[in-house]
Amino acid sequence: MSEFTPTYVPSRRPARVVECQELTDGVVRLALRDSYIARHAKPAQFVNLYTKNAQRLSPRPFGVCEVDGDVFTLMFAVVGKGTEEFRHLRPGDTVDVLGPLGHGFNLREDADYLLVGGGLGVPPLIRAAQELSGHEGSTSTVLFGYRNVHFADAYASRYATQLQSIDESEGNVITLLDRWASQHGVAADADGALRPAAQGRRTVILTCGPLGMMKAVSAWAREHGLTVQASLEARMGCGFGTCVVCTVHTTRGILKTCVDGPVFDTAQLEGWEAAR
Ligand SMILES: Cc1cc2nc3c(=O)[nH]c(=O)nc-3n(C[C@H](O)[C@H](O)[C@H](O)COP(=O)(O)OP(=O)(O)OC[C@H]3O[C@@H](n4cnc5c(N)ncnc54)[C@H](O)[C@@H]3O)c2cc1C
Ligand code: FES
Repeated sequence: MSEFTPTYVPSRRPARVVECQELTDGVVRLALRDSYIARHAKPAQFVNLYTKNAQRLSPRPFGVCEVDGDVFTLMFAVVGKGTEEFRHLRPGDTVDVLGPLGHGFNLREDADYLLVGGGLGVPPLIRAAQELSGHEGSTSTVLFGYRNVHFADAYASRYATQLQSIDESEGNVITLLDRWASQHGVAADADGALRPAAQGRRTVILTCGPLGMMKAVSAWAREHGLTVQASLEARMGCGFGTCVVCTVHTTRGILKTCVDGPVFDTAQLEGWEAAR
């Protein structure tokens, strides 16, 4: 179901910092020069960043946000020691990287894609909008929910066919999905079958963000007969399949989020049946 991941991934190596900018309090946009990652990173694939502190052995995984020539960008929240270190990187510095890792979103089908993101789940969706902007047969509608500052809209709007965002004072991404459904004449049937106003391309939801948000999006989609690809954010150790800390229970058995995901069809995820 997911995009094919390149079998070859170059080994860990230093990447030069091009830009490091605080978009809003505690949210950083970091641009790094690495031609292999910039050319090969599919939407929702991630990279490992390694801190310079030898006591912090584990890499920090981040979804690729945008690519441009031989530069790729990340967007991250400062939450702990690793991200605090990366926040202080300056142009010309280097940071060790590994990637791209994992399996990204499957965008092969010509479809109307709804890109539903919350908080720091937005980077892989911006990358998806960037990729879809080059697909003639598909559209991308970005629906983002924020706590307060709409820090990623300027980047997503570079690529999206349409963008709507909301913050906690007005509602959440389910509010945006309900608005989208009424604008498009889409209603939930009792049996979960989609009733679109006009027949045409399929609508496919891509989502990334807090677990509770993604489960609510998945429940909403099921009520409306839509399928969802979710990019999961599991705790990771190695990021490439050897430590087995990132397991997820699926209908295909216990899988590793880092190599079998991070993208999964939510219909395959155990424990995602709860209604919103
Ligand atoms: C596939 C994937 C993509 C991600 N993409 C992004 C992104 O685009 N932007 C963003 O802001 N965050 C993203 N995250 C979460 C990000 O990896 C963590 O916030 C980060 O590792 C925290 O590091 P720290 O040292 O500041 O925190 P600490 O709490 O000090 O970290 C301690 C350890 O726990 C791990 N850890 C802590 N929080 C998480 C977490 N939420 N997920 C996985 N490991 C964690 C760290 O990697 C580290 O090994 C992603 C996570 C995954 C799994
Ligand atoms: S993070 Fe090590 S196996 Fe997935």
